Amino acid sequence: MRRALCNGSARHCSERVTDERIAPARHVDAEVVVPGDKSISHRALIIGALANGRSYAGNVSPAEDVAATARCLRACGAWVRDFGRGRVALEGSGPGRSLRTPLEPLHCGNSGSTMRLLAGAIAGHESTATLIGDASLQRRPMERVAAPLRTMGAEVRISADGTPPMTVSGRSALRAVDWRSPVASAQVKSAILFAALSGDGRTVVRQPHPTRDHTERLLRMCGIDVGADGDGTVSLNPGNVEPFGMRVPGDISAAAFYLCLVAARPGWRVRTERVGLNPGRTGVLEVLQQMGAAVAVTQRHSDGPEPEGDVEVSGVDLGAMVIDGGLTVRCIDELPVIAVLATQADGETHIRDAAELRTKESDRIAVVANGLRSFGAACETTTDGLVVSGPTTLSAARVSSYGDHRLAMAWAVAAALCDVHSGVSIIERADAAAVSYPSFFDDFQRVVSESD
Ligand code: S3P
Repeated sequence: MRRALCNGSARHCSERVTDERIAPARHVDAEVVVPGDKSISHRALIIGALANGRSYAGNVSPAEDVAATARCLRACGAWVRDFGRGRVALEGSGPGRSLRTPLEPLHCGNSGSTMRLLAGAIAGHESTATLIGDASLQRRPMERVAAPLRTMGAEVRISADGTPPMTVSGRSALRAVDWRSPVASAQVKSAILFAALSGDGRTVVRQPHPTRDHTERLLRMCGIDVGADGDGTVSLNPGNVEPFGMRVPGDISAAAFYLCLVAARPGWRVRTERVGLNPGRTGVLEVLQQMGAAVAVTQRHSDGPEPEGDVEVSGVDLGAMVIDGGLTVRCIDELPVIAVLATQADGETHIRDAAELRTKESDRIAVVANGLRSFGAACETTTDGLVVSGPTTLSAARVSSYGDHRLAMAWAVAAALCDVHSGVSIIERADAAAVSYPSFFDDFQRVVSESD
């Protein structure tokens, strides 16, 4: 049963509220096809809009976040054609020549990637844009992007507390920089690399840990000289960005909800086809393996610069583990559902070095802990993470996503793992899932009920 209240335009309607009801699953044995990867889709659109000529991308994510990037690029004069079913054509005129000043502020919706990545792309153009977002995005930190772009010669204004709106006045001739980022953030790195395409020499970005390298891979595919030392330092020499054709792999962050659903239940199994296997994103598979689950990965040929393959997970009685350092970075978006899974593992699971979770679409440390307790789990917060004790028999609950897509989907997994006699859980503001995976609740209900 869904409750939908919306009077205005669907996309930015703050009154739109949808609840989802999820019953405990009895048995899961399913094949799942997940949508195209959101992170890679943002980059394919932006790089296609900057490249010198016409590019094609297939299996582009249907996420609201990615639609926001396409909308903002069009508002900056980019040629972006959507042929449906994830097929998109783009045409640009090269870095520094592709983006114009939009007539209105660029509304990035809920999407931090849209705001940060576009800030970098606009910084390398003779154009000015103000980037705004929904209530969640308007609270997120932007100084981490503004500071390097200013050092490169762009003018960047943000609120006194470091949040949006962010106004970027760019220049088609920027200074190359050697920038040390205090946070391990692929969004910050990518913003700098996009601006560096208009730099006057080699730009270097140093991070405390390596982060997902989608931007580097896509730019190399387009003929740009991008270096990486494997320890978190990357560099870029400006050059001609050649147009490309690629297929975006499936989103491993979307697949993670199904993989975690089955991992703790002996006899349950799920298989997902053609998901992205970028080493900066496969931390969730490492976690599942370390907890004891059977994880089978079959590499496949990829039509693009990203590794991809089929992943099958079979459930077992899981053990607890410590997640910290680089592993935390490699599964940063999966930590809410990993915390759900940890309630089913034997012992204390410690999630550390995850202070960044407090700066995501919600304060994911506080919100995950509250929600898990509603399901009856034992969970403590720390300044930079969570401690979850298990195994616990979960009981149906009423929880909220607080408008955070990854929470909406993690709660679906928790609800499906509840004691079969405990009733139906209600997830408030479940519509938030559309930010990354619009058909999630339809797909999830099918997986859970078809397998029964
Ligand atoms: C993303 C990077 C990560 C991740 C976000 C998407 C990206 O954020 O949490 O969901 O596409 O580059 P940070 O780079 O801020 O860590």
